[in-house]
Amino acid sequence: MFIVSSPELVIAQVKAGIIGSFPALNARPASQLDDWLARITDETQGCAAPYAVNLIVHKSNTRLEQDLAVLARWKVPLVITSLGAKAEVNAAVHGWGGVVLHDVIDDFFAHKAIDKGADGLIAVAAGAGGHAGRQSPFALVQEIRRWFDGPLALSGAIANGGAVLAAQAMGADFAYIGSPWIATPEAQASDTYKQAIVDGHAADIVNSSLFTGVHGNYLRASIVAAGLDPDNLPEGERSAMDFGSGGNTAAKAWKDIWGSGQGIGAVDAIEPVATRVATLERDYCAALERLALR
Ligand SMILES: Cc1cc2nc3c(=O)[nH]c(=O)nc-3n(C[C@H](O)[C@H](O)[C@H](O)COP(=O)(O)O)c2cc1C
Repeated sequence: MFIVSSPELVIAQVKAGIIGSFPALNARPASQLDDWLARITDETQGCAAPYAVNLIVHKSNTRLEQDLAVLARWKVPLVITSLGAKAEVNAAVHGWGGVVLHDVIDDFFAHKAIDKGADGLIAVAAGAGGHAGRQSPFALVQEIRRWFDGPLALSGAIANGGAVLAAQAMGADFAYIGSPWIATPEAQASDTYKQAIVDGHAADIVNSSLFTGVHGNYLRASIVAAGLDPDNLPEGERSAMDFGSGGNTAAKAWKDIWGSGQGIGAVDAIEPVATRVATLERDYCAALERLALR
């Protein structure tokens, strides 16, 4: 997650047995990326789960080539690409034996991503934090699974163990969870942002294109605090999407306006990553048992 995901968060996730990821742009200045990868590699030695790095493959990301070279040096095992699939990036990652999952919001982009050489997909459905999709997860997974049998993650408001199981039942291989990790001590977010995730519910999430030029989901309270009317936001300009020079323009927008998905009603406390993972696992097993008894 832009700004929020730090090495602390990723290391805690991998140590707890799940895949942890962060956007390369979070390491700022760009020279920090090497240190972050060194630390993550060192501290997750021997863990079962790999870590992942997210590359914003949008034309305005002037760091892409430089960041890709750093990823190559560390042979990053899993790369998540978003905002435009690029065959050269996929080929480069395959060159060091890495795997690429590409973020998609519909079946059209899913085809495009696989045609360009991505190994798998992350279906970003309606209700997701950040640049959310607009389609129901049922519709999205169903359409992708008609023709694609490779690795598929599903994202969008997944925040409890039963929802992880539901994602699998629907046909996804992985549940991809964002917003609940904001309410952890390991996340790089202000205490007020973390508390807003704990206090928030689906009704507190506003969908708008104003802040980055692409539709995304945000916490209503942060929009009000910025002096804006969440119920009357103008449309954003797609050309305003700017990840140049380390995403600084976008960073300003995201620092005060808090991104969040609709699933945060499941988040009751700011708690360590390991505790949240244990709860997810317990609830996943309970859901499985409940279904088996039917
Ligand atoms: C604050 C925030 C920042 C995000 N930044 C990124 C990003 O930089 N790159 C990306 O691919 N997805 C980003 N996302 C989307 C997440 O990767 C993921 O798809 C989403 O959070 C899943 O939905 P959920 O939050 O409802 O669990 C962001 C999400 C949030 C909440």
